[in-house]
Amino acid sequence: MATGSFRHYGLGFVLLSLLLQLLSGSSELQSNYYAESCPNAEEIIKQEVAKLYDEHGNTAISWIRNLFHDCMVQSCDASLLLESKHGNGIVSEQASSRSFGMRNFKYVTEIKEALEKECPATVSCADIITLSARDGTVLLGGPRIEMRSGRRDGRESHASVVEEFIPNHNDSMALVLSRFESVGIDAEGTVALLGAHSVGRVHCVNLYDRLYPTVDPTLDSDYAEYLKGRCPMPDPNPEKVRYSRNDRETPMVLDNMYYKHLLAHKGLLLVDQQLASDPTTAPFVEKMAADNGYFQDQFARAMLALSENNPLTGDEGEIRKDCRYINAV
Ligand code: HEM
Ligand SMILES: *[C@@H]1O[C@H](CO)[C@@H](O)[C@H](O)[C@H]1NC(C)=O
Repeated sequence: MATGSFRHYGLGFVLLSLLLQLLSGSSELQSNYYAESCPNAEEIIKQEVAKLYDEHGNTAISWIRNLFHDCMVQSCDASLLLESKHGNGIVSEQASSRSFGMRNFKYVTEIKEALEKECPATVSCADIITLSARDGTVLLGGPRIEMRSGRRDGRESHASVVEEFIPNHNDSMALVLSRFESVGIDAEGTVALLGAHSVGRVHCVNLYDRLYPTVDPTLDSDYAEYLKGRCPMPDPNPEKVRYSRNDRETPMVLDNMYYKHLLAHKGLLLVDQQLASDPTTAPFVEKMAADNGYFQDQFARAMLALSENNPLTGDEGEIRKDCRYINAV
């Protein structure tokens, strides 16, 4: 009797978890969702991300930005990856002004091809976005994030609403916080996510307003001189692609140096610098500047939340064969 009821207890537990999964949508995401359908999926992604990082270190940076631009806009559905092609009627989100500077999309195609070779039409592009962001974060010295998988790919671009979801570089902190709040990310999480600007670059178009005709008084004056050198006006060679690295000291490390720079008035974008002056966000900036472990914990928590914003699951959407195009019907 005792052993029998133990076994029934086990069965009941399985049924109960199934029931709970049916009742709450995003719990259809699971850790290692492809364990049976494609057991090597996560390992293949990890290896591809590592290989690409060795060849082009900034791919890891792109994977982090991709997660933000895909998941923030309505759903983590890989809509960001859709491209227009003659006759397919798609306006790509990549053409939005908010996507300015995004790069390395062609290497997502390489990751997908490696997966298709092993398990055709099984692993979604939306999960590639999530898992590559997880693995890229680790390669850049950031935290391990326990991402779940099981997302499906959307069949439409959200290009027409990108600007409603992704803030601009000069938006007010109140607007930025409300955007993140609408996807369930609080002020502390928002401050941590902007720490992604600890890596990568900013093109001069996003900096001119802070330098000319007069220097933004919230910008350190030596740093402003440096930035004017990176972004001269008038530009003696307008053909040249001009940008500044986000973090001159540890440009390829996802760490709390970003917050130390903000406290020293060396934030690059207006939104970055506002994190240090806005009374809601400033205390978190100070705490993150002082404690890299705390920054990493908050970054991991917020990235996880972002990665689970309104995913398609079950029989919604599809599994794209090529991340750039919806499957032909
Ligand atoms: C208020 C929110 C945000 C705004 C306004 C914003 C804006 C920008 C801008 C203007 C750039 C520079 C583009 C260029 O000139 O090339 C940039 C770069 C970047 N952003 Fe954000 N961003 C925001 C939040 C985030 C978040 C939440 C993440 C990720 C968690 C992120 C990740 C990145 C990365 C990694 C880069 C560097 C890309 C590269 O070097 O290729 N950003 N962002
Ligand atoms: C913000 O920057 C954009 C260009 O990226 C510019 O068109 C707009 O006028 C700026 N807004 C403010 C409030 O300065």
